[in-house]
Amino acid sequence: MRIAVLGATGEMGSRVAQNVRRQGHELVPVSRSAGVDVYSGEGLGAAFTGADAAIDCLNMMSLSAKKASDYFSRTSRNVVAAARDAGVERLVCLSIAGAADPEVNKIFGYYKGKAAQERVYLESFADCVVVRSTQWFQFLEVLVGMAAVGPVALLPKMMMAPVSADRVASLLVDAAVSGDQSEGRTLSIRGPESGYAADFVKRQLAEIGNVAGKSPRFVGSAPYMGSAIAKGGLVPGDGIVDDITFAEYLEALAR
Ligand SMILES: NC(=O)c1ccc[n+]([C@@H]2O[C@H](COP(=O)([O-])OP(=O)(O)OC[C@H]3O[C@@H](n4cnc5c(N)ncnc54)[C@H](OP(=O)(O)O)[C@@H]3O)[C@@H](O)[C@H]2O)c1
Repeated sequence: MRIAVLGATGEMGSRVAQNVRRQGHELVPVSRSAGVDVYSGEGLGAAFTGADAAIDCLNMMSLSAKKASDYFSRTSRNVVAAARDAGVERLVCLSIAGAADPEVNKIFGYYKGKAAQERVYLESFADCVVVRSTQWFQFLEVLVGMAAVGPVALLPKMMMAPVSADRVASLLVDAAVSGDQSEGRTLSIRGPESGYAADFVKRQLAEIGNVAGKSPRFVGSAPYMGSAIAKGGLVPGDGIVDDITFAEYLEALAR
C-alpha cells in the first residue's frame, strides 16, 4: 500500500513512518519540511496522488481554543478534500482520549481543537477511523518542561493512563491497512496503569534522576485544567489496554 503520513517528522509521525516502512508499505512523508503545508493545502494534492490511505499525526501547540480549533479544523478539512480528489480510500486521525468530551475540554483550549478535528473527520469522511490515545509516556517530559520552574514543578492535577507511543503507532498503521470497520469508527488505547501525572513524574525522578533534563525537588499539582481532567476524564473506560508498563518504559530509558 501507499500510505501518506501527515506530520512524519514529529514525535508520533516519525514512529508511524518507520512502522509503515517496516511493514513494507510505500511511505509518503508529509510535513512543511518536506514541502507540503496541510494548513494552506499547498502540495497536499500531489502528496496524495496514488495514496491508498493517510494517517494524520499533525500538531500545533496552542492553549487558545480559537487558534487550535482553526488549525485542526482547517487541516482536517483540507485532508478530507484532497483525499476525495485523489481517491484516497481511508483516513486515520490520531486524537486524544477524552478530548472530545465538553466537560474535559472546557478549560484547555487545545482539546477543543482536537474535538473540532474529530468532528470534521467523523462527519465528512465515511471510511475514517479516529484513534483516541491516552498520553504517551514521553508526555511527562512535556508536562515537566512546561511546569517546572527552578526546584518546583506545579503540574495539572491529571489522572492519566500513559501508554507506549510505539504501540499507538502500530495501532495507527493497522487501522490504515486493515480496512476493517467492525470495531467502529473510533478506537481508544490506554496504558495498563492509571494514576496522577505527579506520581508518574515522581517515579521517573526517583528512577532516572530527571524528566526532560529537569530535576525539580518539589512536585505538586493543582486542578488548573479542570475537575473533569483531575477525576479521570482522559482515561477511557473501554477500548484497548496495552500491556507495556511505565516501569518497562523507565527500564528502557535507563539503558
Ligand atoms: N503527546 C501525547 O501524549 C499525545 C497523546 C494522544 C494524542 N496526541 C496527538 O498526537 C498528534 C501528534 O503529536 P506529536 O507530539 O507527534 O506532534 P509533533 O511532534 O509536534 O509533530 C507535529 C508534526 O506536524 C507537522 N506539521 C505541523 N503543522 C503542519 C502543517 N501545517 N503542514 C504540514 N505538516 C505540519 C510537523 O512538521 P513540520 O514542522 O516540518 O511541518 C511535525 O512533523 C497531535 O495531534 C496530538 O494531539 C498526543
